[in-house]
Amino acid sequence: RRNMLGLYGVSAEEITTVLDTAESLREISARPIKKVPTLRGKTIVHFFYEASTRTRTSFEIAAKRLSADTVSLSASTSSLTKGETLIDTAKNLLAMSPDLIVMRHSQSGAPHLLAKHIPCSIINAGDGAHEHPSQGLLDLLTIRRAKGRLDGLKVSIIGDITHSRVARSDIIGLNTMGSQVTVYGPRTLLPPAVETLGVRVAGSMEEAVQDADVIIMLRVQQERLTDVLFPSLREYAQRFGLGLRHLKAAKPDVVIMHPGPVNRGVELAPEVADGPWSLILDQVANGVAVRMALLYLLIGPETP
Ligand code: CP
Repeated sequence: RRNMLGLYGVSAEEITTVLDTAESLREISARPIKKVPTLRGKTIVHFFYEASTRTRTSFEIAAKRLSADTVSLSASTSSLTKGETLIDTAKNLLAMSPDLIVMRHSQSGAPHLLAKHIPCSIINAGDGAHEHPSQGLLDLLTIRRAKGRLDGLKVSIIGDITHSRVARSDIIGLNTMGSQVTVYGPRTLLPPAVETLGVRVAGSMEEAVQDADVIIMLRVQQERLTDVLFPSLREYAQRFGLGLRHLKAAKPDVVIMHPGPVNRGVELAPEVADGPWSLILDQVANGVAVRMALLYLLIGPETP
């Protein structure tokens, strides 16, 4: 049984294997019939306790392109609403013999708890403010495709670092692959001792942008901002939003990324989100390939 619970502890060789596998599987999405029989007979449960557009859809599409059978369960339509616990829910799902559960949960560590109790493969599709490993991997693939490499790049991550599972997985993955990460955001949204994550902290938006090969803008997660001092959205946009004026001072070949969903006019000006430097939709396309690779490597025919 194999899991993908986070990028912490995953080696550069293992990350490269996922990215190379994604590259070899991505051409399936360009075929007239976008389907291969690789996972025929396998059953995958998508178990989402939090809203999702990109992750859920791309895991489902990835599974279907590999011919797996898929079932989707959301918190609001399951018996969780009647008080059934997470472990009991998972044990009942397990009684139906799935091969893999893809899980998103608002609590950090929920997929790890499931993995302790449930003898089937688990993929963490985002747990609270902890990790979002498939997003981290698709971001690495997007950067590698755009820049031709991952080592020696300067990547700036801007926004709410404290609550961002995307930032955490990106930082871990980028550090493992040899990129240098700089973070910038409101002081109240930088974790204490943030440098221990292996990042440099910029003192201004200008400093974060200049010299960056890649800029990753984070979503303002209003649903997770109940416990911190936070500027108004208007002030946030003025002080921490990325606009055309910043790009004039950036490297000419800088690329802009964002995990989505984008708050247009808050963390990203619309003309930046839609401009030629934006890789936002490439990230989404690469997400399908990376998730196909994860499914293949975790439960595919050559899995030991
Ligand atoms: N990037 C991401 O996790 O998007 P969703 O919340 O729509 O899945």
